[in-house]
Amino acid sequence: MDQKVVEDIIKLSQNENNFGPSPMALKAVMENCDQMNRYPEPHSKTLKEEFSDHLGVLSENIFVCAGLVESLDIMIRNFIAKGENLIIPEITFVAYKLLAKVFDVETRFSEMKDYGIDIDSIIENCDEKTKLIIIANPNNPTGTIVPETDLIRLMETVPKSTYVVADEAYCEYVNRVDFPNTMKLLQRYPNLIMLRTFSKIYGLAGLRIGFAVAHEDIIEKLEYFQAPFTVSQVASIAAAAAIKDHKFIEKSFKNNLEAKSVLERELSHMGYKVVPSQSNFIYIHFKTQEERDGVCNLLSDKNVLVRKTDHFGDDKAFRITVPRPQNCQKVIAALSHYQSVQS
Ligand SMILES: Cc1ncc(COP(=O)(O)O)c(C=O)c1O
Repeated sequence: MDQKVVEDIIKLSQNENNFGPSPMALKAVMENCDQMNRYPEPHSKTLKEEFSDHLGVLSENIFVCAGLVESLDIMIRNFIAKGENLIIPEITFVAYKLLAKVFDVETRFSEMKDYGIDIDSIIENCDEKTKLIIIANPNNPTGTIVPETDLIRLMETVPKSTYVVADEAYCEYVNRVDFPNTMKLLQRYPNLIMLRTFSKIYGLAGLRIGFAVAHEDIIEKLEYFQAPFTVSQVASIAAAAAIKDHKFIEKSFKNNLEAKSVLERELSHMGYKVVPSQSNFIYIHFKTQEERDGVCNLLSDKNVLVRKTDHFGDDKAFRITVPRPQNCQKVIAALSHYQSVQS
């Protein structure tokens, strides 16, 4: 689709923040982007120090990347030797499996349990040759979480030589109290790696910036394999401001929670099978692919763009980003139209 989203199209296919970018990030970029003739700092040294102050971790434990996909690329490409393996859930963020395929990495798929990530299945698949386990928490596309007790159980069971990646791209949308305090767990488990991005709630997907927090030996490895200057100066300016934009984060969180509960309630009333979500998207699954496609076609006719989840591992479901409250009723009306056509 054209970069410039046409006015009447409601784009709910990529889990972006529909309120736009963080206003503080936008202002900082407008005021400070006159140095773009200069290269950015190697390995984002100053930005790491700012994140360090904000997060309360040492800057040597932070790796800044051009979006989480860069971190995932580095790890999947370089951390797993021939004969070693990667474990990912059966239904999860498509990039993990795409990268594993490109780099010819042996990949084991753990089973899902009620559309959630099943830690027992990961443990069953794990052996001395498992180098990397990736858990999206919340999981994309199902919106479920792995609670802290399960993450601890996993960390206590896997070999110390196995890296466990907690990809927390959507963690700012979570409201469950049993969600892991991963920052704290990092002090206990030197093989745990936490990923965070500015692409989702901060509204900076187009700029490509995120970060990892982990033991300094892992950070050193990530920086060793990172190509020079992948994180742009403009993205760094925006991220430094966005991380302090509490007002915008609060507004985005609240609106998402409200619109999500309306949408989940209405869809369930209409008979759709919805997985309760801890994120900014909802997963809707069907008995047949035909039925799923019928709903997606209807939404597309009404200019509502959603994401079918075939490539994520389920060809009978789709994922819809929670719209802004003013678009909620349009989406509900489109979905109820399908129901009435069917009955
Ligand atoms: C679970 C998960 N991780 C990572 C990403 C990619 O993040 P980034 O834009 O920082 O590369 C996404 C994007 O949809 C995602 O869903």
